[in-house]
Amino acid sequence: MQKIDQYLEENAQRFTDELLEFLRIPSISADSQYNDDVKKAANFVVSQFSQAGFESETIETPGHPIVFASRAEIEGAPTVLVYGHYDVQPADPLDEWKTPPFEPTIRGEHVFARGATDDKGQMLTHIKSVEAWEKVHGNLPVNVKFLIEGEEEVGSKNLETFIEQNKEKLDCDIAVISDTSQYAPEIPAITYALRGITACELTVKGPSQDLHSGVFGGSIANPVNALARMVAALQDENGRIQIPGFYDDVVALSEKEREAMAALPFDEANYLSNLGVSATFGEEGFTTLERRWARPTCDVNGIVGGYTGEGPKTIVPSWATVKISCRLVPNQNPEKISASLESFMKSKLSPGLEMEFVNYHGAPGLVFDFNSPSMEAAKAAIEKSFGKAPVMIREGGSIPVVGTFQQLLGVETLLLGWGQNTDNLHSPNEHFNLKDFQRGIRASAYLWKFLAEM
Ligand code: BES
Ligand code: MN
Ligand code: MN
Repeated sequence: MQKIDQYLEENAQRFTDELLEFLRIPSISADSQYNDDVKKAANFVVSQFSQAGFESETIETPGHPIVFASRAEIEGAPTVLVYGHYDVQPADPLDEWKTPPFEPTIRGEHVFARGATDDKGQMLTHIKSVEAWEKVHGNLPVNVKFLIEGEEEVGSKNLETFIEQNKEKLDCDIAVISDTSQYAPEIPAITYALRGITACELTVKGPSQDLHSGVFGGSIANPVNALARMVAALQDENGRIQIPGFYDDVVALSEKEREAMAALPFDEANYLSNLGVSATFGEEGFTTLERRWARPTCDVNGIVGGYTGEGPKTIVPSWATVKISCRLVPNQNPEKISASLESFMKSKLSPGLEMEFVNYHGAPGLVFDFNSPSMEAAKAAIEKSFGKAPVMIREGGSIPVVGTFQQLLGVETLLLGWGQNTDNLHSPNEHFNLKDFQRGIRASAYLWKFLAEM
């Protein structure tokens, strides 16, 4: 591995430069205004593969393209499927960025840009590590395939169809994803569980247009008042969710796992001050880590309706809309929860109002066995590169494809996060530690070796 280490050192600056180039492309998947840029980002990924000596292809979908790359089969060696996403979240609110989201800027150890940690920086580590193997040895010790998509941030619907139709092409022994976080700075981690999700948008419709609230108010239902009441009914004052059947299928944490979580260092005061909040709040009887990692939620993501401009305006609004996402834990069924949420909200509608419900996407929560041989290989690779053995953690976020890999390909996923939860992913001033970028590349390079030896 000496030669690989040397190659990584000699090329570290170029790797960073190429990451900056990638970060300049505003590949926002949710906003169709950026469709051309999303395509540009896919092409950038393709060019990265050619540089690494990997053959790749761009697969068009009804949405954004998928990039698939692979290396000729080595008889008898295990096959690894690396997943990543080149799309990013919208950058709003723009005025809260210290430097523009698509003009990557290095301050201290970090590069600041939308997508720096989620997921361009993390994903690129695996392309760079295969490049190192190819350039140094002309081959890899394992078979590696890459599946890089542009619709993760909008639910990965077209990817699921692609996987369904290409099981053979994607055939593998294990999947690898770097799209999560370390536990804390200098505490690398492997994630063995993710929460799932169901996300929807709901509109309450009243009169065909806004009305004078003095002339008509009090005689018909107000959509904004009604929606506020419906939303308030979702949770009791202790944070317990009121959707019928919501907790029915939830798998409780074992005592052993609760103990392991409680043993992780956690400074609540520091956690709160980072978030700019004075107290924690959540379901009674659970610690903050348990609430974040292993308990389901129901959150309003945004709510609009009526007049919100300057000064008063006395109207009964015509409509009100809310976006809601529920984080789910293993065994909860996203479709079932979504259907129950829809009928719960419908049952609370005031007379004369209509409700429109759009189910955006869903993914189940997952837990993996953390003593498998490939987990051991990943632990060793991380220890080699970060100088510390990783802790085993759950995460509260969701990566829809992980469930799809399990269901359709029958494989588990190694979730090897190089980021930090404080990297402001999905927020203004997203950043990624360039030291972790380089350490991630090195850990990835060692992973191929340790997986081959397993
Ligand atoms: N990389 C995140 C998921 C993540 C972040 C997991 C940090 C664990 C720790 C991913 O890009 C993401 O944001 N996923 C969405 C999925 C949704 C749009 C279906 C999420 O969790 O909101
Ligand atoms: Mn991501
Ligand atoms: Mn994300």
